[in-house]
Amino acid sequence: MDEDIIVDSSLRPRFLKEYIGQSKVKQQIGLFIEASKKKGEVLDHVLISGPPGLGKTTLAQIIANELGRNIIFTSGPILEKKGDLAGILSSLEEGDILFIDEIHRLNPSVEESLYSAIEEFRLDIVIGKGNSSRTVSINLPQFTLIGATTKAGMLTSPMLSRFGIVLSMDYYDEDSLKQIIKRSAVIIGVEITDEAAFEIARRSRGTPRNANRLLKRVHDYAVVNGGEVIDIDTAIKALSFLGIDEDGLDVADRRYLDVLINKFNCRPVGLNTISSALSESKKHNRRDY
Ligand code: ADE
Repeated sequence: MDEDIIVDSSLRPRFLKEYIGQSKVKQQIGLFIEASKKKGEVLDHVLISGPPGLGKTTLAQIIANELGRNIIFTSGPILEKKGDLAGILSSLEEGDILFIDEIHRLNPSVEESLYSAIEEFRLDIVIGKGNSSRTVSINLPQFTLIGATTKAGMLTSPMLSRFGIVLSMDYYDEDSLKQIIKRSAVIIGVEITDEAAFEIARRSRGTPRNANRLLKRVHDYAVVNGGEVIDIDTAIKALSFLGIDEDGLDVADRRYLDVLINKFNCRPVGLNTISSALSESKKHNRRDY
């Protein structure tokens, strides 16, 4: 496995007490977890919404760890047919957690069969075709659905209304990101000063994903350039080496802004025009470091 991937998963907090930032979300889910344990009931279905890179999957894993339950990971685009969902649902055990990432991208027929599964813990399967077809209902164990979405507004209202718990995550403040960087530095085994951690945090554009990636690259720079400790001087030099500017923008971000400002004179411009001016794919989300 890629070393970055191994490091990435070891940097993720496993329990709420290790989780830094998102204090409202932490308080809310902490209380609902405690209540479900005290009542001896399965946790209600949870929707986690927020921009990419904030740790929605990590939070789902934490919920499972706190409850001491199994978690099964899947995503909206992977569940192409009703049968794909049926396969997963029929393997669930009482209290299990089913995590569906990008839940706004579920195919409508899959979404519809999910409704009865999460509301009545029942799976309806149609056997055969045409006149001879019949519906068989299978009872499912009680489970918790955790849906994650970067686009809560794209969720259908029947889907949205089926979540008893809705957690809205937002970008992290610089202080939380600084603490996350300091925690990650301890795990990686590198010393970092407060000032350097804050400088990386400031340029991380609000997400732990960026913060941890920058920390790893700054660490690489420090290793090669002989710095045992990441101090502010090393951090600034490393960030400039990486092409990350004062605001955390990289080369691709600056090219994009340059095209908007200088080529199109700040006038409204469509995605097709921007992508051809940049010679970039409309979908591609590039990172150079
Ligand atoms: N690593 C990534 N995200 C984190 C968070 N929210 N708290 C602590 N460590 C993290």
